[in-house]
Amino acid sequence: MGEKSKILFIGATGYIGRFIVQASAKAGHPTFALVREKTVSDPAKAPIIQSFTSAGVTLLHGDLYDHESLVKAIKQVDVVISTVGHAQLADQDKLIAAIKEAGNVKKFFPSEFGNDVDRVHAVEPAKSAFETKAKIRRAIEAAGIPYTYVSSNFFAGYFLPTLAQPGVTSPPRDKVVILGDGNPKAIFVKEDDIGTYTIKAVDDPRTLNKILYLRPPGNIYSFNELVALWEKKIGKTIEKTYVPEDQVLKNIEETPFPVKIVIAIGHSVFVKGDHTNFEIEESFGVEASKLYPDVNNTTVDEYLNQFV
Ligand SMILES: NC(=O)c1ccc[n+]([C@@H]2O[C@H](COP(=O)([O-])OP(=O)(O)OC[C@H]3O[C@@H](n4cnc5c(N)ncnc54)[C@H](OP(=O)(O)O)[C@@H]3O)[C@@H](O)[C@H]2O)c1
Repeated sequence: MGEKSKILFIGATGYIGRFIVQASAKAGHPTFALVREKTVSDPAKAPIIQSFTSAGVTLLHGDLYDHESLVKAIKQVDVVISTVGHAQLADQDKLIAAIKEAGNVKKFFPSEFGNDVDRVHAVEPAKSAFETKAKIRRAIEAAGIPYTYVSSNFFAGYFLPTLAQPGVTSPPRDKVVILGDGNPKAIFVKEDDIGTYTIKAVDDPRTLNKILYLRPPGNIYSFNELVALWEKKIGKTIEKTYVPEDQVLKNIEETPFPVKIVIAIGHSVFVKGDHTNFEIEESFGVEASKLYPDVNNTTVDEYLNQFV
């Protein structure tokens, strides 16, 4: 293998962005982060900015809405990884335009890091959010930009510390609410591992124009299996309340934004089984733990130990 690709991040300071940036720097990729000037001077962001400088990340001033700054930054690198958040997903068309103009990008990773948005059975408002990501996929393909889409499934840190119970701060020990019958399998991946797998894919030709699915065997659990594992760890049986699908749909309708979208994503994953209800076919996808068996990823079993 030749030199490691230079990687530019848009959304480096975000929740998942910072993990992938650290993985990039750790793997020895020359790592660049496009950061807004106001973010660099924001005291709340100082620890993240400091962690980037300590890791040898080069900060570039710019903005998704400043075309010149994007083109200038992109011209310095080989690969672009976007980890912008919900509000900027649709505006990644600006990034596509800049990548096209720069003309030097070997691979683009748009902000995905969740369900495979071409294979979901979601209701609103999750449906529209997934459609926005799918539209960006189509724009990348139409522009002929080489890509990898990372379908990381659930961020472990978002769901496991609460066992997906809204409004709690630690995994429940008495009662748990389960969407649907609790049988569809979901996938929970620790954020550092999402970073590691994403960066491994950067210079790997097997991931070119493919969806990279994160499905490590130790991270795939149905809601029922997850609760059973937790019960075993705490040595106690928890009272379970099952919410049938029609009630879940009603709850989504009646709940205000943004919790609404969280329940709608829960419906897609826990009721419809959208993380695992399809096979990965060679024509469109590859699975990360098979490509990179050397990655010692954290399993759900190991992850939950910190809360016992
Ligand atoms: N699978 C899961 O469980 C899960 C959970 C949550 C999210 N996700 C997905 O993960 C992806 C990233 O979401 P996130 O929650 O990590 O994002 P986030 O925390 O909201 O971070 C957004 C990033 O975008 C940057 N940004 C915002 N406006 C910008 C602009 N005009 N120019 C340049 N940068 C700008 C922000 O920079 P500042 O620091 O300057 O504001 C920040 O770095 C999304 O695709 C989301 O759907 C998945």
